[in-house]
Amino acid sequence: MQEQTETLFDTQFEEEVHIGLTDYPKHLSSKYFYDEKGDKLFQDIMNMPEYYLTDAEFDILSTHTDEITRLFSKDEKHFNLIELGAGDGKKTKILLQNLIDNKIDFNYLPIDISQHVLDQLSRSLKIEIPEVVVETQQGTYFEALNEIASLTNDKKIILFLGSNIGNLLHLQAIEFLSQVQKLMGDDDLFFVGFDQKKDPQTILDAYNDQTGITAAFNKNILARINSELGGNFDLDKFLHWEVYDPETGTAKSYLVSKEQQSVTVAKLGLKINFAPWETIHTEISQKYDHRTIEWLAEKSDLQIVTQFTDSKNQYKNYVFRTV
Ligand code: AVI
Repeated sequence: MQEQTETLFDTQFEEEVHIGLTDYPKHLSSKYFYDEKGDKLFQDIMNMPEYYLTDAEFDILSTHTDEITRLFSKDEKHFNLIELGAGDGKKTKILLQNLIDNKIDFNYLPIDISQHVLDQLSRSLKIEIPEVVVETQQGTYFEALNEIASLTNDKKIILFLGSNIGNLLHLQAIEFLSQVQKLMGDDDLFFVGFDQKKDPQTILDAYNDQTGITAAFNKNILARINSELGGNFDLDKFLHWEVYDPETGTAKSYLVSKEQQSVTVAKLGLKINFAPWETIHTEISQKYDHRTIEWLAEKSDLQIVTQFTDSKNQYKNYVFRTV
């Protein structure tokens, strides 16, 4: 007879840490990089010269602003500009300013898991582009998107920038794109950032900077286990390690134990042993080519409307509509 399984965990974080650290090989999810300190480290990453993704997408949005504005507003219908994982909105503000300058009728609905990030974004928009009507939505992408879709039939333009999609395995990405597709009407557009395959060294440099910001970002997951779950990880006993496979386009981040060691996580009643050089896999950052994006779109019942590229051909934004 099947044993009744009771959940012993108070949070999903606890459960996933338990599963990940007792598995072989060990793994933890990159979604747990982001507490207040992780948010700040990611901001620092976006400002690093090696992390070309931010500049590349900024370049696309600045160079093609008028074209994007025309694409969003060509039927002259009012729309909700919904941004999934809005962050500091630095890149989106270029678009928002252009939409305002062209007197386009839209509301801006940024969605983020962090209320702190949303408050900062609304405050900065009030000062920088006060004409924008902003309605923030705190929550996971789907809770918030579902709520918006159930409240109004207004046209939706959904933004998913920063190659955030790259933190998902292909099958997870298809599931994500399909879920968004199901909420899209015929007039709606989905605007997504995809980092491209390129010189492997450029990618390795972006994810393994000399200053150690990315290493601190990766290790922040251990710092969170220490502070939130009573762990005793010694962060100096782990290496940040990045690999990139130019065939699959997958960059992977690891934490590697420099020596044999045991770590306890009091809240989970866990003692975890590490062999020398044992790994914890923490993140994937997928890089794409056109064929792969066409395949993802096809599997998700999406159709490519158009695409934009930066001047160095490092990054692309694709626009999809539902088939
Ligand atoms: C948020 N995400 C798209 C970033 C990326 O490029 O995978 C997170 C990151 N990890 C290391 N550097 C930046």
